[in-house]
Amino acid sequence: MFFSGVKMKEIISIKLLIFYSAFLYFQIFSRADRSVKCSLTKVWGPGLDPENIVLPARYFFIEAVNENKVSLNKSPGSVFSVEIKGLSGKSCRIWKNILDRKDGSFIVRYKLYEPCPQISISVKCHGEDLPGFPFKFSGITYPDECSCKMYNNIDDWLSANDCSASHKQIINDLKPFSSINFEKIFHEAEQTLFKDPHKSSVCNYVIKNNEVYRTCYGQHTGFKMFVDAVLLSLTRKVNLPDLEILVNLGDWPLIEKKKNLDASKIIPLISWCGNDVTWDIVWPTYDITESSLENMGRVTLDMLSVQGNIDKVWEEKIPKLFWRGRDSSHERLKLIEIARQHSDLINASLTNFFFFRDLEAEYGPAMDRISFFKFFDFKYQLNLDGTVAAYRFPYLLVSDSLVFKQDSTYYEHFYSDLQAWKHFVPVKKDLSDLIEKIKWAISHDVDALNIVKTAQSYARSNLLPQQIFCYHLQLLKEYSKLQLNSSITVRPGMELVPQKESSVCDCNVSAHREEL
Ligand SMILES: *[C@@H]1O[C@H](CO)[C@@H](O)[C@H](O)[C@H]1NC(C)=O
Ligand SMILES: *[C@@H]1O[C@H](CO)[C@@H](O)[C@H](O)[C@H]1NC(C)=O
Ligand SMILES: *[C@@H]1O[C@H](CO)[C@@H](O)[C@H](O)[C@H]1NC(C)=O
Repeated sequence: MFFSGVKMKEIISIKLLIFYSAFLYFQIFSRADRSVKCSLTKVWGPGLDPENIVLPARYFFIEAVNENKVSLNKSPGSVFSVEIKGLSGKSCRIWKNILDRKDGSFIVRYKLYEPCPQISISVKCHGEDLPGFPFKFSGITYPDECSCKMYNNIDDWLSANDCSASHKQIINDLKPFSSINFEKIFHEAEQTLFKDPHKSSVCNYVIKNNEVYRTCYGQHTGFKMFVDAVLLSLTRKVNLPDLEILVNLGDWPLIEKKKNLDASKIIPLISWCGNDVTWDIVWPTYDITESSLENMGRVTLDMLSVQGNIDKVWEEKIPKLFWRGRDSSHERLKLIEIARQHSDLINASLTNFFFFRDLEAEYGPAMDRISFFKFFDFKYQLNLDGTVAAYRFPYLLVSDSLVFKQDSTYYEHFYSDLQAWKHFVPVKKDLSDLIEKIKWAISHDVDALNIVKTAQSYARSNLLPQQIFCYHLQLLKEYSKLQLNSSITVRPGMELVPQKESSVCDCNVSAHREEL
């Protein structure tokens, strides 16, 4: 600046101000892609209907497009800003988080810590409100812990949440049962499942008048907290029909398929993981259920966070297969051997010796864990069974790396939707073709990227928190139809699983209270 003298002072400060704002403007928007056509931006997702769709963390999506309505395929930088607030004069306690998926789209998620009257959601592009925004709601938006927005029945909830009509897996799992009558089943379970506390840990739940009751059998019943949490969350949202279920708390499916068994004696056991040789009914694993319930809560790795925490895009990733995990199968040890012979193609290490402690000298040393998000610095990921299916599969599928899946008879609730070569690259159970498959991927980069996109798109529309709750409710709906003729009663000795007392949930707050 060359100005001087008292008279110039005011002018200088005005000029400086202009210069400074222009500079700031430049700073902010130089990183922002000017090819984004703001008025064509797509915004959608359950978080835009916060009064009707109650989730632990609500979320919606923003997709930037150019003037030809084509999505950008790379991050446009800080083009968008989002503000979510309550009735003017009252700022509700809301935590918000924007995740850049680095493909031209973003996830906005937010968590409410108290009921919020007249919430408004503003999405700005280059500083200007998008057409139609801000969205304003006249009623009260409740946090997930409040039982204030109740649906009368499962169907109403399913349709409000746009859940798909049904699932192949549910139809298939319930096929052996023409009806589920606990008079017989309970006796059968006492003779088998409940008998040996070292072999199985199983909880018997009854839902009666939308309250949750249970008795657990077995030595290790700590995982009942995951089942309690999801059942309580569901009964805060929907009036569930009365029903009685048995839930397996262990990883292994337990109901072996037998020929010529009287169908009324098959125990309808709900498990996290299925197997081709068992009759267990599967529902989402405790892992993905917990990460859906604790989204923006206790859990940091979830189906949304993983999408916004990947550093490198496809072209920048290291073209190697990356794997970390514990020593829970022979093939995991085998992988270490293969990796040592092919360190140019594989970076794999065990992080923990538990099952094969005596082999640590040979297959170790145990490496420090690294952040799961850093896995995706690498182009290729391996889904390798541990004791059962590897519960990281959903997170791998929704990432932008290519997933190699070991052939396996174990499955989670969604595997029947997936196809080899479409959603993942298949690898033999003994890993004998792993190197060949990695070489295929290296020499077929375009095909590999197509598989990545298909997998990602499947996971984005089927495995996010809302769809995980859909699956639970669809299963309970179909299941309860099989108990229509049974009278459901709370068994003697069952414990009531209470909803957590909440100091903030007053369902009768007026949306227009003046003193707010
Ligand atoms: C394997 O990956 C880790 C994590 O990125 C890295 O620290 C290590 O150096 C890699 N090992 C080899 C042999 O490249
Ligand atoms: C319930 O009872 C009716 C009448 O006996 C029968 O038609 C129906 O199939 C039964 N439903 C179930 C699920 O057992
Ligand atoms: C809300 O009000 C209704 C009727 O005015 C009452 O029956 C209900 O108990 C109230 N609920 C709470 C949580 O205060």
